[in-house]
Amino acid sequence: MKIVKEAKTFQQVNTELLIVGVQKNCDHIQGWNDFVSFYGESIEEWIRSGDIDTERKKMTRIPYTGDNGQLKRVLFVGLGDTKTLTENELRETFGLVGNQLRALKANEFTIWLESFTASPIDENDIAFLFAEGTGMGFYQVPNYKTSSNEVDAYLDAVHFVTNADIDEIAASYKVGSVYADAVNEARTLVNLPPNLLTATELGHYAQQLAKKYNFEVEILTKQELEELGMGGILSVNKGSVEEPRLITIKYQATEKWEDAIGLVGKGVTYDTGGYSIKPKTGMVGMKGDMGGAAAVLGAMQIIGEVRPDKNVVAVIGSTDNMISGDALKPDDVITMYSGKTVEVLNTDAEGRLVLADAVTYAKQQGATTLIDVATLTGGVITALGYDKTGALTNNEALFDAFIEASIETGEFVWGMPLTEKDKKRIRKSDVADLNNSPGSDGHMIFGGGFVGEFVENTPWIHLDIAGTSDAANAYDLGPKGGTGVMVRTLATFVERLGEQDS
Ligand code: BES
Ligand code: ZN
Ligand code: ZN
Repeated sequence: MKIVKEAKTFQQVNTELLIVGVQKNCDHIQGWNDFVSFYGESIEEWIRSGDIDTERKKMTRIPYTGDNGQLKRVLFVGLGDTKTLTENELRETFGLVGNQLRALKANEFTIWLESFTASPIDENDIAFLFAEGTGMGFYQVPNYKTSSNEVDAYLDAVHFVTNADIDEIAASYKVGSVYADAVNEARTLVNLPPNLLTATELGHYAQQLAKKYNFEVEILTKQELEELGMGGILSVNKGSVEEPRLITIKYQATEKWEDAIGLVGKGVTYDTGGYSIKPKTGMVGMKGDMGGAAAVLGAMQIIGEVRPDKNVVAVIGSTDNMISGDALKPDDVITMYSGKTVEVLNTDAEGRLVLADAVTYAKQQGATTLIDVATLTGGVITALGYDKTGALTNNEALFDAFIEASIETGEFVWGMPLTEKDKKRIRKSDVADLNNSPGSDGHMIFGGGFVGEFVENTPWIHLDIAGTSDAANAYDLGPKGGTGVMVRTLATFVERLGEQDS
């Protein structure tokens, strides 16, 4: 639990570290003169000379040797020209601060809130973005090194120098850290090695989450999936010695279970490609093929904390995609949970088979709007790169609202077309209703479009996070590895829907 404390003046600061934002025109900041007289005139000279860098995202650390016996150093955070500073840039800047906090092992520190004010970003926004950004930037990938005897750093208490209402600030800070913690949980799920995170384990994780937040939860086993005839997920699981799981979590906000938003995640704990096997270089990293499931579980964690006014049903299909004498083969024809038949042309297009059954189940469980999230295709990376999530929809109004949430969180989402001609190619098969791999041209659309065949007329958004779920390099808001992408956007979207309904 992070504790929030208040210091009214700089003299009252009683941590070793103070964090101060420096902009192009510091003298405009409320309280700047107080700060200068506290620290000493040299500050203004260092800013002028560039020894303290005011450029956006640049950090300068300077020792403090004045009268305040507690304070040892000040971290100056460059903001550049605050007229052009966006919320997302401020969040990213705080991500870099989080990284510094970890390097300094600063479990407790003080932030001077007003030094970061930039119209129209007010003190409450800053507190939220600070908690979210530093919380994400602080994250470290768990490792299994036997030689490490380092004590892990953690964020313990934050102190604010501010004139704003400290209770409001504390509330905003709390929500920001709820968001960051959920992203970090999702990142850890993605980063876990596949021998440790099996479908069974993912089920246990969901069960614990549900217990903590009082969600209704159901974990279907292989035998139960067989009884229900879930041919999609079972076919993908056929080559595995690990059992599959279909995980359902319900968050009920209203008295009646109605108008639930369905969040559906791909939880493939390892994707070898099956008999359409991946090349050895393409297989490494496929432990992250459950990034969609992680995004949904992370969003549910935020929902459990924030408790928005919107019913939510989360459904995750989980299995690995392996090879054995019994595994699914290209040319197999399978019957899905919905009753539709599918000609399997490529066993590496497994995610859509798992998602299709999960979507059918989510509808049965009362989802009247659907969002599926999946590391579905390499095609989305070819089309949009590693920093944009690709999307499909059958409902423009729903999609517009989702884009608004994504702008709020700074997670880039881009809509792609799904035409009648595309659908025709998905429905083309001599032996079945559908095929699972119509071609390699523009195949992000075929992946999502296949899922759409099971969504039918329910308002729906498909999110392909194959490019955005796992970062190849460190970035402002986190290290290399699982990013927890879409956790914040899904939760923000649900929160905003709740605000509309009430
Ligand atoms: N899990 C992969 C998609 C993927 C690729 C995720 C790269 C993360 C990074 C998916 O199951 C897959 O193999 N898709 C195939 C589909 C093809 C066989 C139609 C692909 O994208 O090549
Ligand atoms: Zn695959
Ligand atoms: Zn996959």
